[in-house]
Amino acid sequence: MKTTNNISELREQINTWRKQGLKIAFVPTMGNLHAGHISLVTHAHQYADKIVASIFVNPMQFGANEDIDKYPRTMAADQEKLQAAGTNLLFTPTPDIIYPKGLDKQTYVDVPNVSAGYCGESRPGHFRGVSTIVCKLFNIVQPDVACFGLKDYQQVQVIQTMVEDLSMPINIIPVATVREASGLALSSRNGYLTTAEKKIAPALHRHLQWLAQEIQTNNDFIGLAKQAADFINKAGMRTDYIHICHARTLNPANKDDKELVILAAAHCGKARLIDNLQVQL
Ligand code: PAJ
Repeated sequence: MKTTNNISELREQINTWRKQGLKIAFVPTMGNLHAGHISLVTHAHQYADKIVASIFVNPMQFGANEDIDKYPRTMAADQEKLQAAGTNLLFTPTPDIIYPKGLDKQTYVDVPNVSAGYCGESRPGHFRGVSTIVCKLFNIVQPDVACFGLKDYQQVQVIQTMVEDLSMPINIIPVATVREASGLALSSRNGYLTTAEKKIAPALHRHLQWLAQEIQTNNDFIGLAKQAADFINKAGMRTDYIHICHARTLNPANKDDKELVILAAAHCGKARLIDNLQVQL
């Protein structure tokens, strides 16, 4: 696996592959890789001949109160994992390569509606940072397909909407969430959990499952979501939000909607955990 932080070098390699008629898949990440990230690479092999991954801790998607300097950086271990999973090319730019004018003078991409609520409300500017960096990376790599984890369900909808709205010829592949045996979704943020909190954290997924079961027979979506939030709080976490939404628009679910998603975020000690569950009625 070749690693480069140089955009021209990356493009040269990708052009060579294109001339050979090869299909390219892209897996963008912020590093500190775990089995969830690696499952994206494994999945990508189904859709393409060459896999390009990126590691870039994107300053534009961190809020002023979120400490980007504390984001775990584990490049050597990440490279080993990507190589073992069959990644062909790794792009590792620095902020000055990606944002040479600085963040404030940079053109940005704002996706309306789907990025407004939930994590978009709790983390103002976050999705603008995500859609802008993913747009830039798509223009640099120009992949045929790109894989994103459903663990970040709202992010997948934001990227899918951006690709549709801006007519980008890229197939977005959503990949199922990888979980621990306890049900806890794998996340870099789980590293902030103490041993005691690790025992509490799976309650988030458990109560989403409870809620998914309840809404099969009871359409009091708001009342049930409130009850689930109470359960999560009683388990020792602090619920940020829990909502039952239309699976694609992310609007609050109507009684006759059939394809739903439950979106949730909760604080557990120092970690803010997110999770979701798709439900078909
Ligand atoms: P990051 O948090 O590093 O995640 C990179 C990719 O891995 C995302 O598509 C995310 O949904 C996926 N992922 C994380 N945990 C997962 C799990 N447990 N199971 C399956 N997939 C999982 O998401 C980002 O980075 C950034 O916002 C990025 C898209 C790279 C833009 O900066």
